[in-house]
Amino acid sequence: MPSATMNAQEVRAVWTSERGSMAKETAENRWAKIIQGSIDDIGETAAAADVDCQKRAESIAIQIALKDIKKGIEQNEPLTPLRDDGKVDIQEWNKKLAAIGECSWINCPWLFGECYMYRSIQRILNSSKHWQNYDVFKRQKDASFVKSRAAVEELASRYMQIVTDTRLAQNESKEVAKKLLFIEMTEIALWGNATDLSLLANLTLEDLQNLQGREAIQKSQRNIVDNDTDDVWAYLQRTAGQASRQIDIVLDNASFEFFTDVLYAAYLLEAGISTSVRLHTKEFPWFVSDVIPSDVESLFKHLDSSECFPGREYLDQLIPRLRKFFQSGAITTTSDPFWTMPFSFHEMPSKAPALFKELQNSYLVIFKGDLNYRKLTRDGLWPHTTTYEKALGPLGKESGVKILALRTNKSDVCVGVPTQSKVDALNEEAPSGAWIRNGKYAVVSFNEGQ
Ligand code: F6P
Ligand code: MG
Repeated sequence: MPSATMNAQEVRAVWTSERGSMAKETAENRWAKIIQGSIDDIGETAAAADVDCQKRAESIAIQIALKDIKKGIEQNEPLTPLRDDGKVDIQEWNKKLAAIGECSWINCPWLFGECYMYRSIQRILNSSKHWQNYDVFKRQKDASFVKSRAAVEELASRYMQIVTDTRLAQNESKEVAKKLLFIEMTEIALWGNATDLSLLANLTLEDLQNLQGREAIQKSQRNIVDNDTDDVWAYLQRTAGQASRQIDIVLDNASFEFFTDVLYAAYLLEAGISTSVRLHTKEFPWFVSDVIPSDVESLFKHLDSSECFPGREYLDQLIPRLRKFFQSGAITTTSDPFWTMPFSFHEMPSKAPALFKELQNSYLVIFKGDLNYRKLTRDGLWPHTTTYEKALGPLGKESGVKILALRTNKSDVCVGVPTQSKVDALNEEAPSGAWIRNGKYAVVSFNEGQ
């Protein structure tokens, strides 16, 4: 039984063999489906009339290689070193695998195994001639965005209202209004994470719309099991006089969640909370739905389309505002190879020291989503009352990094719950770990790194 006094190295990371875990359920039931989805996607693209015949021929070899990964998962084969695809990171993956030792798909550290699966898909594409920059998950990302129509249109309208409120709120006497706006925008970005595509397979369109509306967001506030919003606000108020206030957002998913993140970035700028916002994307397709650089333009392409979003009244006011932030450089995007490595963020100071330094210099680093949270906490089976600061390990106490995690709970790890009686109440309300897994509960966890 893990105890709240254990240190980071003593806490076990969850393995895919862990009985009753989300890790096991994901590895056994979802990974093969995800690979099958990418096989089908490549088949569909290759079948299009305008595809070059060499590219089509190559798609067959890619599909065979993907089927091989799928078979490996279904038959619980050992994880083997990744073959060279000309990229420098392969060595690091194989070193990490060697350090873990013998393991197989359904008996490996969940974090490593899942990252390894996405890197294996990319390895196949990198080794091809015609498919190197192909996004096997683009179709799914696009389709889900269109399904979020009602929520996108509602948020566009709400945002335009908020901009007006923000202007009003710039008057010093409107402190309370300012804080309420901050809470609302933070929660929109938080619950935007409830709908990642790797879980979407199990949600109906109605479920999706229920998760996204503004009223739903208000109702869900009671489901934030560690809520440090007041502490973040206090930090932002205390430091508002700093000349440079760059906020980094380490993004999670494309489509609807990314829309909420861009709105959040725009709000942080409009409200004068930050002086610039840097959005961190992944370098290649990752965990199905994560934002890659091409998803930025894709977001605007979709928002511009009246076929996707016919309710134009507020969107037509909003889009030029958002674009302007990108054009002026107030919002920028960047990618770092570290985000698509299998390391937990406890390894950032040694594996990506330059990135770590940049984050130390940031005014605030916001990590979106479940996978980032798993990496922040080493995917560890911590007692739920462990403090967030402690679970952050080297990124916690005295790290100098101001870290805010906005994450809906979709895995096996959750820390920062204030008391054991709260944990007991959650276990009663949502038994069998449902509150850690089903995406209906969340954390807004903040640490100042002091
Ligand atoms: O189990 C759900 C899952 O696929 C996890 O593997 C992963 O942590 C998560 O979803 C991805 O969620 P997010 O997009 O919020 O990081
Ligand atoms: Mg994701």
